[in-house]
Amino acid sequence: MEGRLTIDPVAPARPGQARNGGGAPEGWAVFLGSSEVQGGPGGIPIRAPVGLVAGSRGVRPVALDATGGVASAIGPDEALVGVLPPVYPEWLGDRSFLSAHGCRFPYVVGEMARGIASAEMVVQAARAGLMTFFGSAGLSIDEIDRAIATIQGGLGSEARNWGANLIHSPQESHMEMAFAELMLARGVTNISASAFMRLAPAVVYLSARGLTRGPDGHIRRRTHIFAKISRVEVARPFLSPAPEAILGPLVAAGKLTSEEAALARRIPVAGDITVEADSGGHTDNRPLTVLLPRIIDLAKEVAAEHEYEPPRVGVGGGLGTPSALASAFAAGAAFVVTGSVNQAAVESALSNDGRAMLAQASMTDVAMAPAADMFEMGVEVQVLKRGTLFAQRGRELYRIFRTYPSLEAMPEAERRTMEDKILGRPVEEIWSDTKRFFAERDPAEIAKAEGDPKHKMALVFRWYLFMGAQWARSGETSRRADYQIWCGPAMGAFNDWVKGTFLEPIENRTVVQIGLNLLEGAAWAVRAQQLRLAGVPMASENAGFSPRPLR
Ligand SMILES: Cc1cc2nc3c(=O)[nH]c(=O)nc-3n(C[C@H](O)[C@H](O)[C@H](O)COP(=O)(O)O)c2cc1C
Repeated sequence: MEGRLTIDPVAPARPGQARNGGGAPEGWAVFLGSSEVQGGPGGIPIRAPVGLVAGSRGVRPVALDATGGVASAIGPDEALVGVLPPVYPEWLGDRSFLSAHGCRFPYVVGEMARGIASAEMVVQAARAGLMTFFGSAGLSIDEIDRAIATIQGGLGSEARNWGANLIHSPQESHMEMAFAELMLARGVTNISASAFMRLAPAVVYLSARGLTRGPDGHIRRRTHIFAKISRVEVARPFLSPAPEAILGPLVAAGKLTSEEAALARRIPVAGDITVEADSGGHTDNRPLTVLLPRIIDLAKEVAAEHEYEPPRVGVGGGLGTPSALASAFAAGAAFVVTGSVNQAAVESALSNDGRAMLAQASMTDVAMAPAADMFEMGVEVQVLKRGTLFAQRGRELYRIFRTYPSLEAMPEAERRTMEDKILGRPVEEIWSDTKRFFAERDPAEIAKAEGDPKHKMALVFRWYLFMGAQWARSGETSRRADYQIWCGPAMGAFNDWVKGTFLEPIENRTVVQIGLNLLEGAAWAVRAQQLRLAGVPMASENAGFSPRPLR
């Protein structure tokens, strides 16, 4: 069955238009008795107002005619007691999000490192009116530049509903500034800043560069920062104005004008905060219901201190079904972010083999494993467990790292088992490859490792963790048991929801169909909740939305 998503005469049909970005829902009469209305929970439409009739047998929904009256006869003991307004996916979040970013839906396709959230994924999602971020983390400046050119070629210069990811790179901090310069040079106006524990100059530079005051007195941003956080103490600096200690040196270095710095002192560093609950990849495994309300309150507190509007607060992590989205919006999310579910999409740069594995996952098929980038610190990422042994092998390497001062100090038998059963190669071979890699990228690493055997061990183990992700991307099936695929429980929840529908086969999983179906289903869930609250009995089995092709 062909579903219809584009029947809203008020909301814009194309991204880039911001007509539905604010104001009253003008033209409601247009919807009264609309013949275009499609289905809804229990057959009750979502895109038309619904009358509520109360009588001795309780409350029931009724259709309304073009004048807003009850369309069919009602009983002598019944009376119209209320009208439920239409529910639109476009209106589930903060309407200012849509106008600020030129998108149609309060829905973000989250960045996925090393181009897994590919240029093609960004182009398709943005064309459909979703907000979307290219997975620039872990790529070289040249690779990012090429992807940006592809995206700009595909979307044109008018589209504003996309951006790229500035990832904190403690081991290559020069990359942060180089990335910022590239974004400014190429005119990318949305940046998702993630993994930062504190503000970095590159974030402040991007946030403050190009600030101007409009004729209405409002401060206008050239670049919008989305700060991805999962802790209160990390959120606070992004919710606050940029500190003098960073602004001063940027002005002294000629990167900011003193006018830009003056304006930066009056607004928060980030206009949008992405709260990251239990998600695929780097995660603190916090429950959305605990973290989101706290950060929304914090945004209000900090904004009140500085006397400006609070930044918008959206949320990602664990969103794989319509009711999960609906509950995030109900908890006050300005926008929602998905990640894991998009990795199985056709536009994802993960191999077909890896995508097929994701499509089989249930919600418990995930585990925490050591992160390649911060291995020595014991930082972990959430990965797919089903069909790969990566999590358990990675944890074994971390145990070895904690146990021995060097590779040479390992008992011979244990070292051989590690080479045979985990690394799949002799340590010496891996070390030669590692040296070649760092000779180009960062020769200081080799010098450090040669003087510090524990560091050498970390670099060898990081080779395995890094290659696990490479093998999954390229589909190196001989190393399937070592695939590192970042994934959260949302993937399994999504797989259960789409079972038996057109979205079950991976060839139909486009980032747009995933997004539109989650949004449409969330609108159904909201309608079902409205009906329940109005006293209409609504069994949960009637409330659910089954995926269908939407446009
Ligand atoms: C494969 C994969 C790669 C990711 N890479 C990044 C990244 O490079 N930077 C980042 O900020 N978030 C990254 N994320 C997090 C997503 O952008 C998103 O916030 C998160 O996946 C949402 O939670 P979910 O996985 O439960 O949907 C990644 C997630 C996945 C699944």
